[in-house]
Amino acid sequence: MNIETLIISANGTTTKQQAAQQFAEDIVQGLSANPKRLDSKYFYDTTGDGLFQDIMNCPEYYLTNCELEIFSGQTDALANLMMADNDEPFDLIELGAGDAMKSSYLLKYLINKGVDFTYLPIDISSHVIGLLDDELSKNIPGLKFVGLNGEYFQMLKKAAAISGRRKVVLFLGSNIGNMAVEQAESFCRELRNHLSPGDMALIGFDLKKNPKTILDAYNDKAGITRNFNLNLLTRINRELDADFVTAQFEHYPVYDPESGACKSYLISQADQQVHLRSLNRTVNFQQNEYIFMEISQKFTLQQTKDIAINTGFIPANYMFDAKNWFTDAIWVAK
Ligand code: AVJ
Repeated sequence: MNIETLIISANGTTTKQQAAQQFAEDIVQGLSANPKRLDSKYFYDTTGDGLFQDIMNCPEYYLTNCELEIFSGQTDALANLMMADNDEPFDLIELGAGDAMKSSYLLKYLINKGVDFTYLPIDISSHVIGLLDDELSKNIPGLKFVGLNGEYFQMLKKAAAISGRRKVVLFLGSNIGNMAVEQAESFCRELRNHLSPGDMALIGFDLKKNPKTILDAYNDKAGITRNFNLNLLTRINRELDADFVTAQFEHYPVYDPESGACKSYLISQADQQVHLRSLNRTVNFQQNEYIFMEISQKFTLQQTKDIAINTGFIPANYMFDAKNWFTDAIWVAK
């Protein structure tokens, strides 16, 4: 850490114990439901973080490269759009910053131009925020950094309390795709409610394209996406003293070109019982019963514009990769 940086945690931030409690509750609820489901936000333990890195390096997983192409190839256009024709200092907030690989192109560009801004990454993982702080203070000297460790909207409130500057919120990587269209719209409405007129959102949407291209991205030949899904069962074994046999579950991804929903399931290969021993619970599976694991929604350009308009934004600008597979939308709060 250097003097330019600060890390803020949510007031009475969820303690480790509370997080463990919530995890247990959500898992039991999901596995007791009919049909069974697990929440993909729980994919990201330490092993899951690593597997997601591996997914991003898979030849089939085009999303990261498309967005990287936009951020590395059109940095000046992006920067100019977010500066909104004025020299006023602004806050650049990133939801779920991760390793900030894409946004660092923007950060470096803005620093080199002498633009006055503060970077405020929000992440639920204090580990991620700490790493980012170390990395960015080393690689981008002079960057004003305020790490916000907590839930997106809770921390957006914090950000607004810290400064009244104009805000630009990044939500990259098609993270919005973990929500179906209707939920994505509710999310954008809530985001808008945390912003003021003139603030901006820069959102990465994965677009509808050849269905095979999409399905392949979630069904890589090396089986990393499969392991990414199965890893949640392993996490449940570890954290809830359970006895899932991962070999008894098959990764089954599907893409529906009509709805644009790419979904993944784990299919039980046999009638079997799983014991969540720390909770004294038994879960029964029938052969071929599924657990719904994740949605990765794909959008049409028009859908993203409709979402913007329905939630109080002006869909001002769209940037694309050369193949038009992915878009970073720049919306202005009305
Ligand atoms: C991190 C939600 C954007 O849905 O494409 C990758 C997660 N799941 N492969 C996505 C994921 C399977 C990813 N997001």
